[in-house]
Amino acid sequence: MFEGISVALYLGASILFILSLGGLSNQESSRRGNLYGIVGMSVALLVTVLNPLVVSYGVLFSTMFAGALIGTLLAKRVQMTAMPELVAMLHSFVGLAAVLVGFNNFLEPGVLVGAEKVIHEIEVYLGILIGAVTFSGSIIAFAKLNGKIGGKPLTLPGRHWLNLAIAVTCLGLGYRFLSAGTPGDAVIALGAMTVLALLFGVHMVMAIGGADMPVVVSMLNSYSGWAAAATGFMLHNNLLIVTGALVGSSGAILSYIMCAAMNRQFLSVIAGGFGGGLGAAGPSPAGVATPQGEVTPISAAETADLLSAARNVVVVPGYGMAVAHAQHILFEISTILKKKGCNVRFAIHPVAGRMPGHMNVLLAEAKVPYDIVFEMDEINADFPDVDVVVVIGANDIVNPAALEDPGSPIAGMPVLEVWKARTVIVSKRSMATGYAGVDNPLFYKENTRMLFGDAKTMMDEVLKGLV
Ligand code: TAP
Repeated sequence: MFEGISVALYLGASILFILSLGGLSNQESSRRGNLYGIVGMSVALLVTVLNPLVVSYGVLFSTMFAGALIGTLLAKRVQMTAMPELVAMLHSFVGLAAVLVGFNNFLEPGVLVGAEKVIHEIEVYLGILIGAVTFSGSIIAFAKLNGKIGGKPLTLPGRHWLNLAIAVTCLGLGYRFLSAGTPGDAVIALGAMTVLALLFGVHMVMAIGGADMPVVVSMLNSYSGWAAAATGFMLHNNLLIVTGALVGSSGAILSYIMCAAMNRQFLSVIAGGFGGGLGAAGPSPAGVATPQGEVTPISAAETADLLSAARNVVVVPGYGMAVAHAQHILFEISTILKKKGCNVRFAIHPVAGRMPGHMNVLLAEAKVPYDIVFEMDEINADFPDVDVVVVIGANDIVNPAALEDPGSPIAGMPVLEVWKARTVIVSKRSMATGYAGVDNPLFYKENTRMLFGDAKTMMDEVLKGLV
């Protein structure tokens, strides 16, 4: 009876998870997508609670309550800028769960024999292997993202050989695990592989430069999905298999898209240990590059005058807008300009800010209508017809050197071609570089004006000049 109900409910939950992912791919449907995910997860929890194999409801409910409480507190407190580190921490939980379930599954006396037993042991071995890499890699990613460990890549001599040696040893240990004569021998092989996999996760992420961390977080997201799928195989839980595969594949696709947006090679990310270019430079949010020329400053009042006269305006938000919390004031400015008959749009670069969709979330929070928010590919061709572009706390994503200077660390990265507009106003506090730590020739162009100061303070001044 329970078997039949659980299959039906798991099927429903799987469909809800697929709908959730579909919904999250678009800003307008993202709330609905979230809701599908919440309902799907609630169904999955219900099936767990109804399972006749549950031996202690006291333990089950107290752990569920503790998990829900910690999750709620973390989600409520986290700043948008700290979201990637929270995600990295959550991935580490999935990895740890896969390792614990794997050991538990192996140590529990089983009834399987012959080929079924071998297949099950392979599932256990792979689940622990992927889980351990995900766990230690995610902990290092968390520590790098919140600054507990420096962003510089650790490049040990012969690191690729070291990785290869670990991989080959894990294969050998796998053979020993499967052919072990006694459970004790098998546990020793499993334990040795776990230690090596943990070291591999640490080494792989330590070798990656700070600027490449977003790709790594999304890659670890993918790994955590595969770890969950392997756990599903171990536990014969179809929902875990489906959900794990969904997370694993969508994480891999997101990593690929981010690699393209940051001009990184996907395969070198998967292999780990990459991090030349941006990564080698490391994040240097407060770095100052040698100026390449003279800049032309502009005041907030002059900015307001320029915007008042413009018919076609594009706003390009970046990390500095998030730091300054300037999104609400930008919405007010855009509303006033629209009332004056101006066509105002927002242009979003795929890696603007510090996490995928960072700017979309902030603009949605400020109630900026979706139909005036455009992706880079949708708006790049329009810049020659734009009167004024306002770049708010963005730097790398509007750097022409990415297209014009083959020697630049960000060469090849697609950028918003704002310099093609009639006038570009750049709002930032100083001449400091962005995340990639490189100078930006945009600031010295004839049609660029620098509006120095905190983005929110300056936009407040601009708003005063508009009303
Ligand atoms: P950045 O290139 O990092 O530039 C942000 C600029 O904001 C800085 O130059 C800074 O200049 C300015 N700023 C900081 N605080 C400000 C404030 N209160 N008011 C006004 N300006 C302020 O950001 P971006 O253009 O958004 O590009 C994103 C970069 O981060 C890319 O290199 C990307 O590869 C990388 N990255 C992206 C992600 C994802 S997935 N989105 C994750 C990690 C890293 P001042 O100090 O002079 O004010």
